[in-house]
Amino acid sequence: MSERKASSESQIPENHVIVLFGVTGDLARRKIIPGLYHLHLAGLLPKKYRIIGTSREKSALTNDEFRSYAKDAIKTFGSNKPEGEGWAEFEHSLSFVVSGDDDAKALHAAVKDAEAEIGGRVHRLLHLAVPPNAVLELITMLGDAGLNENSRIICEKPFGTDLASARHLNEVILSQFDELQVFRIDHFLGKESIDNILALRFANRLFEPLWNRDHIRFIEIDVTETLSVEGRGAFYDETGAFRDMIVSHLFQVLGFVAMEQPVSLEAGPLRDEVHKVFQTLQPVNPAHVVRGQYEGYLDVPGVAKDSDTETYVALRTEVENTRWKGVPIYLRSGKCLKQSRQMITIGFDEPVMRLFPVSKQEKGWRGNKLVVDFADPGSIHAQFLAKEPGPLMHLDSAEMTFHYKDSFDSSHHLEAYEHLIFEAMLGNRSLFTRSDGIDRLWEVAAPLLDKPPPVETYQQGTWGPVSADRIVAPIGWCLK
Ligand code: BG6
Repeated sequence: MSERKASSESQIPENHVIVLFGVTGDLARRKIIPGLYHLHLAGLLPKKYRIIGTSREKSALTNDEFRSYAKDAIKTFGSNKPEGEGWAEFEHSLSFVVSGDDDAKALHAAVKDAEAEIGGRVHRLLHLAVPPNAVLELITMLGDAGLNENSRIICEKPFGTDLASARHLNEVILSQFDELQVFRIDHFLGKESIDNILALRFANRLFEPLWNRDHIRFIEIDVTETLSVEGRGAFYDETGAFRDMIVSHLFQVLGFVAMEQPVSLEAGPLRDEVHKVFQTLQPVNPAHVVRGQYEGYLDVPGVAKDSDTETYVALRTEVENTRWKGVPIYLRSGKCLKQSRQMITIGFDEPVMRLFPVSKQEKGWRGNKLVVDFADPGSIHAQFLAKEPGPLMHLDSAEMTFHYKDSFDSSHHLEAYEHLIFEAMLGNRSLFTRSDGIDRLWEVAAPLLDKPPPVETYQQGTWGPVSADRIVAPIGWCLK
């Protein structure tokens, strides 16, 4: 099994047949198909590959229809135009097969044919972008059809809705696939800026010596969205912001922010360190949680008229280990908010002695902040105090900034899905989640799932319920 190389040599995956389940769904159209096309143009797909789209009879396509569907998806959502030689080659690799309701024989035959066309040793990558209620049945079907042989399988979140369902899902997956074949995807871990947390912390002496409870006053992770849940009401109403974002994504990001230095970047050591963070992450205390619901949510098609699902959640938690004990960790995410932002803020303590007077406008804390903006293409801002020019010793805030787009060649940039599909083809699981980690996160989530505080309504276009300010008092939200 190949694992992640920390060298500059780029690897190209071995020949593959890629099967996209749920290919007519939103995720495949927005991310996966345009992503595969970009990988093709970047020369990061295998030398020989075939892409088979599949779905149930009711959304069946012919090969030609699939190709024009893919072209349209790339035109609408991709960063590269589907034209010229690049498109002709990619288009040639595409075909479509219907998956039966209870068997995958036709699909298996199509995979075999594609493998014979390629010739020699060929891997299979099965990407399951299907609704959660279809996953269990599909996995069993894949096993019955022999599609679990020589395959790697990418499973989309959500991994269950609580500890029991996550365990059951995992049992079913492991009844058909070996753990080494399973790639549980959290696309946040594929974002450049999240991967870059490892570089920021462990390749630089500048930050890591301060990266602990002796110097850090708080950690805040915000993923706020202006988007509503329009178009996914039924799914969202059963899920809510806490499961959809905190359990699935923000906890994973926290794993990278809070972990100890792994002995290497390979999947084993890296994921062990993330797991240790989860083991010491404190169960979510409902008293430190505010849940909100935006005005108008109840009118979204698919949402129950009396729903108390949260579209916003803010909470305080803690990682109780030697490095972090006593440092509050604030996590916040919501829909229909004032801005779409994805930010990690590390708030540093003030110097032990205050040499400079504090102005009247400044309230309390005036420590430095390191802000990682991880929305693609990403940036990092170090906020500190500097002397204002002039005869007086007045301090004002200043900033040092790194922008990915200005500092590196953006043509090398891979979107989260592209990055992760590429890593899966190489067999590298470092940026994929582990089932014991997922189980632990559901344990951490359980007290809130059992006793959620009531939802508070908030106006669209605001920062959510005002009462969430108490979670971060006395400092206040960094993003406001
Ligand atoms: C998904 C959630 O996993 O992540 C969505 O289900 C959310 O609700 C999305 O909008 C955010 O991801 P990104 O990377 O598109 O900002």
